[in-house]
Amino acid sequence: MMWTVILFVQAALLYFLLTHRTRSKSEPPLDKGAIPWLGHALEFGRDASKFIDRMKRKHGNIFTVRAAGRYVTVLLDPHSYDAVINDSDSLDFNRYAQVLMERIFNLQLPHHQPAKEKAMMKNHFLGMNLCALKSTTSTHMQALLKAEIPQNQKDWKEDGLFNLSYSLLFKVGYLTLFGGERNNKSADASRVYEEYKKFDGLITKLARGTLRAEEKRTAQSVRQRLWEFLAPAGLTEGSGSSPWLQAYRRLLQEEGADKETQNRALLMQLWATQGNVGPAAFWLLGFLLKNPEALTAVKSEMETLELSSLDGHVVTPVFDSALDETLRLTAAPFITREVVQEKTLHMADGQEYLLRKGDRVCLFPFNSPQMDSEIYQEPQKFKYDRFLNDDGSVKRDFYKGGKQLKYYNMPWGAGKNGCVGKQFAINTIRQFIYMMLTNCDLELCDPKAQMPGVNASRYGFGMLQPDGDMRVRYKHRTVL
Ligand code: HEM
Repeated sequence: MMWTVILFVQAALLYFLLTHRTRSKSEPPLDKGAIPWLGHALEFGRDASKFIDRMKRKHGNIFTVRAAGRYVTVLLDPHSYDAVINDSDSLDFNRYAQVLMERIFNLQLPHHQPAKEKAMMKNHFLGMNLCALKSTTSTHMQALLKAEIPQNQKDWKEDGLFNLSYSLLFKVGYLTLFGGERNNKSADASRVYEEYKKFDGLITKLARGTLRAEEKRTAQSVRQRLWEFLAPAGLTEGSGSSPWLQAYRRLLQEEGADKETQNRALLMQLWATQGNVGPAAFWLLGFLLKNPEALTAVKSEMETLELSSLDGHVVTPVFDSALDETLRLTAAPFITREVVQEKTLHMADGQEYLLRKGDRVCLFPFNSPQMDSEIYQEPQKFKYDRFLNDDGSVKRDFYKGGKQLKYYNMPWGAGKNGCVGKQFAINTIRQFIYMMLTNCDLELCDPKAQMPGVNASRYGFGMLQPDGDMRVRYKHRTVL
């Protein structure tokens, strides 16, 4: 009995020594939360936007919180974001990305060469190669839409707008980049989408390690099926996969990844390339359907274009502004970096804070600048021309505290680790909106229906998703 008590006291003491932390004067305000070790993890996971807002009101533009044993410094002053974005020596992108890779995709890459992987992606998703990708995307999109709404069909077809946008764009992306059923006769793109959707629904819990036993089993079996579907992709030149995927396969082989690891890496790429585009297209179409003036403006601009022109460089300021406004309201990634060496963070207001090695730093541009009422009037409202000047040129001057902002909207991240797929994503969404607005009649089943709310558990994971859907009907456009 005596020994049990001694052991218990020693364990408690050790736990206290290992987890005890006090704030030094040079560090940001520290908020550990009431629950030992767990800290604020539950509130953070339930609705990160609301939680960060509450902490900002309590502590100001910078604070450190404890969540599941880790200390995360949240910085919310966009004038100071360069101090984080531009310091990849002290603040590392890859370490946290690796943690997520392991948790979500069960993936550990031997001899991983992130710099080479990224250079390869840039080569395939920018410049001349992008033109070829745009054209393949367009071909698949036309074919899928034709199958979805046959030309001779007079009747309306009904669907949820989120389901329609996400499933269609997923299938287009899967066919364009992964080769689809040309690889794998047993799995058409719709079946892959069904499995992918189940996986996507579990992704936040996978990342946080909060799956219940039954969900764990589902996640494992869904991942297994997706690995099998992806197994033939990119293996041979005739597989119908994109040159990027074939090059990626070769890189994985060069790194010494076995077949199973390669399939896991492919699932990660499937999510990275498809997880945001469909949801972004949904929000944009949804906002347009609820805002007749915006719909007319975007439609008029689209009607001046030829479909084939969308494969090249095309100027669409009205569409661009409507998309930027959509992303301002619905893109909510965390920009997370790991502190790999102690760093003094210099804020724009002259304050300095010490960041401890081993902690994480997180920017959350959704709360600030994107939803900041000092920068945007009525920030909750969709205004399609918010990013246009009166003369129709792009508006780039936004202010906070009387000073012009460098970062006023950050859906794509920024700096060295900003989104490599930005141009490809914008183009895919533009092609989709073009085809839906010029080839189809599309309307809300109930004109009074409101946009669904957001699924608050997805704050921090890129594009938000709705917590319901919006019924729409569509048919091939009747030319008068
Ligand atoms: C609406 C669609 C998309 C949005 C909103 C989006 C957003 C983002 C954001 C915010 C980051 C930065 C993360 C950070 O700094 O921590 C990022 C990075 C990245 N994105 Fe996207 N993305 C989209 C589509 C795509 C597509 C289609 C691809 C590929 C074809 C892609 C490939 C990448 C890659 C490879 C990175 C990591 C860059 C690096 O390693 O430094 N994204 N994206």
